[in-house]
Amino acid sequence: MRKLLPALYHCDRDGRLAPQTRIIALSRGGLTDDDLRGKVDAQVRAAVPEGDDPAVWRRFLARLRHVPVDVHDDGAAHEGWRALAGLLAGHEDRDRIFYLASPPMTFGPFCRQVQQAGLVTPRSRVVLEKPLGRDLASARQINDEVGAIFAESQIYRIDHYLGKETVQNLLVLRFANAFLEPIWNSLWIDHVQISVTETVGTPGRRGYYDQAGALRDMVQNHLLQLLCLVAMEPPARNDRESIRDEKLKVLQALRPISGSEADRFTVRGQYAEAPGMPGYLDEPDRSPPTDASYRVETFTAIRAEVKNWRWAGVPFYLRTGKRLPSRRSEIVVQFKDVPHSIYPGGSPNRLVLRLQPSEGIDLHIMAKEPGAGEVTLRPVPLGLSFARTFGTRVPDAYERLLMDVMDGNPTLFMRRDEVEAAWRWIDPILATWESAGTPPEPYPAGSAGPPSAHELLGRSGRAWHEEEPA
Ligand code: BG6
Repeated sequence: MRKLLPALYHCDRDGRLAPQTRIIALSRGGLTDDDLRGKVDAQVRAAVPEGDDPAVWRRFLARLRHVPVDVHDDGAAHEGWRALAGLLAGHEDRDRIFYLASPPMTFGPFCRQVQQAGLVTPRSRVVLEKPLGRDLASARQINDEVGAIFAESQIYRIDHYLGKETVQNLLVLRFANAFLEPIWNSLWIDHVQISVTETVGTPGRRGYYDQAGALRDMVQNHLLQLLCLVAMEPPARNDRESIRDEKLKVLQALRPISGSEADRFTVRGQYAEAPGMPGYLDEPDRSPPTDASYRVETFTAIRAEVKNWRWAGVPFYLRTGKRLPSRRSEIVVQFKDVPHSIYPGGSPNRLVLRLQPSEGIDLHIMAKEPGAGEVTLRPVPLGLSFARTFGTRVPDAYERLLMDVMDGNPTLFMRRDEVEAAWRWIDPILATWESAGTPPEPYPAGSAGPPSAHELLGRSGRAWHEEEPA
């Protein structure tokens, strides 16, 4: 309701859905087609401010169907699967996309069900939402189960961060401009920060979040994917395998963090009650907190390192958390200072890639303040705001990615080996945290995270970038 249907509506409005496209929702709720359309009308229309073209909206609603199924029912016998087969019968020549926005342990059983019901055709694809499993072993098992039914080329592991405009633009900035690449290395770059901070908490998500935590929910996928795009070597071609091959090499070059290093290079926190804001344990939810709730991190910060020629010695600081003071996703590339300074008061250049809010890119350079007398320096941004420059609505990441699935283009989706390489790096951190048996460091809701997150950079004289966008 929040992401997929608005994205599909926008694709429809922009004339990118074929007239015969149908959107079939499968759920355990016993809805009829009309119930579903009513729900979508009530919940989604408000979320699409451009949804006021009644003819397009009616056309969109008319595409929707609902079939009640349960993934744990027997595929051949259950009425729902038969009803789905009936809806799809005679359309074997069309693209068929199964989009699984359900818990990872249902992926394998779902694929078996659709196969038993005879619904997997050569033109079928399956989209898997993250997180794929909860560690390397479970990710492998899911990949095996899904891979027994769909070929790797039919499997689309979605990470919506890869569909964001700024992320796409990071590749264009790096590989369609000549000036950055010569200085994109440890000789010129001091460190990189990748931050995804959120103001929201986790109300109503305890069942999922207790099992996931910030490391599995955000770092294993979104933040590591961003790190890969910053750190990867220039690919030979912009095609489905070349980019993913280069990203994989970055994941494989990550320095493992385990044991005492996990204490030094990772931070985990959990938000606590603050005036007017509940703590994680007091968030309203259907189920009360369990042992897992006390242990789960809602904030994490990590000092990562890519051990290769280009990046030796350059820290990549990753940070993400809930109930922080602002909602911001950004990549900050902090350059080194000039080798010899002739002006007092200068500061090193910084490149800020903003994913949200107001997607854009700022290069902070030193400029002279106007005026006679002594030269006074001030850092000023050379800025690119996508909305202002291109004057168009910035499409949501899901629009781009859903169209890519329909077009059969997997470039921006994670390959099996990438997902598994990411887990291989995450697993030892998780193991160390779990064996420590200590709870995460509390931070007041609405504050800037636990003090250790600041010490992580502070001990080498660095600080998190906290500037609001200009
Ligand atoms: C999701 C996580 O993948 O990304 C959520 O499960 C998180 O916990 C969300 O809030 C953030 O996405 P965005 O696009 O709003 O930054």
